[in-house]
Amino acid sequence: MPATILVKSQGPVSIQSIKRSANWLLRSQLLSHKELTVVLTDNAGIKEINKRWFKRPWATNVISFPSEEPGILGDIVISVERAREEAQEGLTTVQNRTIELLIHGFVHLLGYDHELGPHEEKRMAKKEFELKRNLFRRSLMADLCINVDHVATIRQARGGVEPDPVVAAGIVELAGADGIVVHLREDRRHIQDRDVRLLRQIVQTRLTLEMAATEEMLGIAEDIKPDIVTLVPEKRQELTTEGGLDVLALEKSITDAVKRLHDAGIPVSIFIDPERDQIEAAKRTGAECIEIHTGRYADAESEEEREKEFDSIVEMAGFAADIGLRVHAGHGLNYQNTGRLAAVSEIVEFSIGHSVISRSVFVGIERAVKEMLAIVKG
Ligand code: PXP
Repeated sequence: MPATILVKSQGPVSIQSIKRSANWLLRSQLLSHKELTVVLTDNAGIKEINKRWFKRPWATNVISFPSEEPGILGDIVISVERAREEAQEGLTTVQNRTIELLIHGFVHLLGYDHELGPHEEKRMAKKEFELKRNLFRRSLMADLCINVDHVATIRQARGGVEPDPVVAAGIVELAGADGIVVHLREDRRHIQDRDVRLLRQIVQTRLTLEMAATEEMLGIAEDIKPDIVTLVPEKRQELTTEGGLDVLALEKSITDAVKRLHDAGIPVSIFIDPERDQIEAAKRTGAECIEIHTGRYADAESEEEREKEFDSIVEMAGFAADIGLRVHAGHGLNYQNTGRLAAVSEIVEFSIGHSVISRSVFVGIERAVKEMLAIVKG
């Protein structure tokens, strides 16, 4: 059961990242079947709770409420305001400090209690350290999101019901992927509206909807509310997305689309070529993320050309991260050419479809995903 995050007071932290950390903690202790609620509040909010439940009228940083009910692990209340104060003292970020407090509260829910004496204090610190090391180490690795469009391509070849990309998405998640991606094309050549609606209901990790910035697609996104939208260019005759979106030329309409999606609470990524002026334009639209089109690198015909393209991806990923954009990458990536890019620390997410679905025809989808995960996390 995914953790629930209740935001009583929004601090400078990524809710998505807190949620992912909470879900990771549950998984790491084989407790995913249990309910966990994390409440983010401020000093006044946590003071109120301290006063009400513990008769101590001051603000602490975190409080845990274990549950006696079998299906519920409990609640963790964190003061993000206090996390910010402690981050300044400890020279860390509010985000990291909030996650440290989440881990502390979580370990309490597991039954550890540092207030029971020096032995328990040591035992609890050891558990916290172990979880913190593993969680932060994991967060250094890029995420792998699998595009299941081509499962739908096979289905559409016969116009029937199998294979179902929704079923594929479930197996992909069980295999350990960090997210599911689908491209709802204007011509509906593979993914159908029904697929996106069902995926919204079953995807437990996160659902990325790739789409053109058209009126029809914006309406669908506003309605379905994927976890993130990736805006892509779309031409009817193309076999697949050829080249990134020309944000420079379309800046006004893309900015309007980003605004509409933000108003619906949906973060936006823009699929662009690794070019400085496109990245700057993407930043100006207000999008929080770019996906670097890796097609020129993947399709390079000579070693020299591939090196040149690789260098430009590395340079532009660094530039984008420096100006505050989250960097994803995708297109044409396979079991041979992904490893090098996985070592580029600014790229935090890969979106890979065709090569994984192709391999799954021979080895099964679970194994194909696991093999790609080993490359991306390696
Ligand atoms: N990212 C985007 C924006 C795409 O349009 C595609 C192709 O649908 C991919 C990633 C995945 O590319 P591939 O199927 O070549 O792995």
